[in-house]
Amino acid sequence: MKKNKKHFLVTGGSGFIGSAISKLLIDKGHKVTIFDDNSRGNLKKIFPIKNKIKFIYGDIRNYKKLNRALHNVDAVIHLAYINGTKYFYTKPVLILDIAVKGIINVLEACKNNNIKELYLASSSEVYQTPDKIPTSEKETLKIPDIYNPRYSYGGGKILTELMGIHYGKKYFKKLIIFRPHNVYGPNMGYEHVVPEFIKRFKKLKNKKFKIQGTGNEIRSFIYIEDFIKAFDLLLKKGKHLNIYNIGTLEKIKIKNLALLMSKIFKRKIKFKKNPLQKGGTKIRVPNIDKIKDLGFKQEFKLAKGLKKLINI
Ligand SMILES: NC(=O)c1ccc[n+]([C@@H]2O[C@H](COP(=O)([O-])OP(=O)(O)OC[C@H]3O[C@@H](n4cnc5c(N)ncnc54)[C@H](O)[C@@H]3O)[C@@H](O)[C@H]2O)c1
Repeated sequence: MKKNKKHFLVTGGSGFIGSAISKLLIDKGHKVTIFDDNSRGNLKKIFPIKNKIKFIYGDIRNYKKLNRALHNVDAVIHLAYINGTKYFYTKPVLILDIAVKGIINVLEACKNNNIKELYLASSSEVYQTPDKIPTSEKETLKIPDIYNPRYSYGGGKILTELMGIHYGKKYFKKLIIFRPHNVYGPNMGYEHVVPEFIKRFKKLKNKKFKIQGTGNEIRSFIYIEDFIKAFDLLLKKGKHLNIYNIGTLEKIKIKNLALLMSKIFKRKIKFKKNPLQKGGTKIRVPNIDKIKDLGFKQEFKLAKGLKKLINI
């Protein structure tokens, strides 16, 4: 391999974010192995780079297979996880099983293969109901109700971070945690608000548009191309044992997100409200000073990103 080029293994690499990260790494001249069980990802997502990567079909809970896959790897990006809000409520045991066994296996297999560089995907869900908005990386992490299955996802990410930091101190030279905040873009499945709304606008027969909660819930979204630029900064300049929010400060009420889309689709809508699911967060906006200090600038304002996505 050429100087400064590395062999990366990306767990969950055939998913939405993983396929985009793998493409970035290939474009930069690195070697990429994807390790995924394709439970949500699929080879279509990595089709453009299919011939340039090595794909290993495997479950992150299978230590032997993961350990073998890590021979001759220089750095690992760990993304494999169950994503999608509806699964937080319906599959908490599976989420925790993959979260817990996944992080233990990744850390142990890196240790065993003497891999010193590791990037761990966490989530904005570790903040739940934060005290401060915009929320910085220093915010206290919470599991507000141990009985609510929703927190299987956030709880698994808190454990991922806790193990990552302490193994990181002892065994790694560059271990970085990133907390994505509502990334959107092509090929992301339909378990997120943006693609779900787009799907419904495409099929809309009358003006009635169902919305979870009051529609006053606030989020900020980041387009995948901006996310990838932020991730590239972590590869180049991210600091050992640091945690970085990745998102934008462009906050929007969910009902205004629907109205913005209705303009792009040129459709008039009338809201039909539904109760917010138990544990759903009213407002989530990250403080992004740390990633900005590395050079991050948002290029895709929400209207621009949505137009691009809808017209793809
Ligand atoms: N998309 C977002 O806005 C967002 C926000 C916060 C955090 N994240 C985190 O970023 C990471 C990537 O998310 P994404 O949006 O690309 O989700 P995704 O569901 O598209 O990708 C996850 C990948 O993990 C794979 N996977 C699941 N279980 C596995 C297992 N047992 N063994 C091997 N592979 C397995 C899936 O097949 C899929 O390809 C996840 O860790 C997620 O929690 C994403």
